[in-house]
Amino acid sequence: MKVIRVGLIGTGYMGKAHAIAFKTAPAVFPLSAKLVCEMVAEVDADIAAEKAEELGFNRSTGDWQQLVNDPDIDVVDICSPNYLHKKMALAAIAAGKHVYSEKPLALNAADALEMTLAAEKAGVKTLVGFNYAKNPTLQLAKEIIEQGELGDIVHFRGTFNEDYLADANTPFSWRLKRQFSGSGALGDLGSHIINLAQYLIAPINELCADSQTVHVNRPLNGQPDQYDTVENDDQMHMMLRFANGAIGTIESSRIAWGRKNSLWFEINGTKGSLIYDQERLSELQLFKPEGPSDRHGFKRILTGPEHPDYQHFCVSAGHGLGYNDMKTVEVRDLVEGLAGNKPLWPDFRAAYSVNVILDAAEQSCKDRCWITVDRDAQVLPKNNKKSVQSSDQ
Ligand SMILES: NC(=O)c1ccc[n+]([C@@H]2O[C@H](COP(=O)([O-])OP(=O)(O)OC[C@H]3O[C@@H](n4cnc5c(N)ncnc54)[C@H](O)[C@@H]3O)[C@@H](O)[C@H]2O)c1
Repeated sequence: MKVIRVGLIGTGYMGKAHAIAFKTAPAVFPLSAKLVCEMVAEVDADIAAEKAEELGFNRSTGDWQQLVNDPDIDVVDICSPNYLHKKMALAAIAAGKHVYSEKPLALNAADALEMTLAAEKAGVKTLVGFNYAKNPTLQLAKEIIEQGELGDIVHFRGTFNEDYLADANTPFSWRLKRQFSGSGALGDLGSHIINLAQYLIAPINELCADSQTVHVNRPLNGQPDQYDTVENDDQMHMMLRFANGAIGTIESSRIAWGRKNSLWFEINGTKGSLIYDQERLSELQLFKPEGPSDRHGFKRILTGPEHPDYQHFCVSAGHGLGYNDMKTVEVRDLVEGLAGNKPLWPDFRAAYSVNVILDAAEQSCKDRCWITVDRDAQVLPKNNKKSVQSSDQ
């Protein structure tokens, strides 16, 4: 059996989520290759060693370049802050490694394109952590749309709102400085709902956006009475026109009190509607105008073993999956793509298409006008569902 040896850079929130998925995927899916958690890189050798022990990796280093150039690493997994993705990915690509990176791929579309072209030229495979599309519930939504059950799609209304910075006293982090994060709620949360809008509906042709920084100064961590200036958006929204003629809206906020993981959308078609709420992630609401009108209403579909990938987690319907399970599906895709030399989605090029929309939205906020988006920059998955599959499917 082929062996895939993983080098993980960064062991914060996402690094841990990836580590859990590497450990879980072989138990959940019949994988075509053996996954080996080989090496962890962190900001210093002590933290790296501690995290390697905690997360079950064989080796560790305080120097990510050592990991990238290690001959026993096949895929470099980048879970560091946004500004490091580019240099880590380019170094990994130069060393001939496959790259699995967190989102947003880069601080801007130009950097994302550079990374995409480098990976394509080197012939290495890439995967980006837009994990929400991996949910069986969203694979079902995609199937419903593709089979024409909603008719022609006319409207997409999507949000990704959270409250992790709603408290004005939440201290400063790398996410609040443009040089480390790029945009704020737009890139951090909005990138996910943009990815889903492109996946479920069509490329975005035009947009008009607005954004705001509400809490302009925040305290520095552990330094009483010291403040720094927030440089990116706390909340943003935009109007959209899609390539298939549909219109829509997207909003994202990191200061929406009470919203914990409110990646939510409603899709209206000429024959029906769909509603999804990430806070109820194993449930889809489907409306079709069937039967007497005084009995019309949204039908609640709970995902179960009939739906893509669910049966690998649980044989009983309606028992529900969780956030980490989507990362497990993502890792399954990674392994099957690498082992079988199959296309991966979303790859760097697909993630670049999200960066293009992020840049267009920021331009629109700045110029206070509609922006026409470069259509060629946007790529949709080619029959994504069938592109990577575990061996029993
Ligand atoms: N897909 C998702 O749902 C999701 C959710 C959260 C974050 N993210 C993305 O994951 C990435 C990381 O975010 P996070 O929330 O885990 O951040 P975090 O701050 O919790 O973790 C970042 C980690 O990177 C490490 N690091 C920083 N510089 C490093 C260096 N030079 N070498 C090695 N390690 C280094 C830090 O020590 C830390 O452990 C970001 O790009 C973010 O947008 C994705």
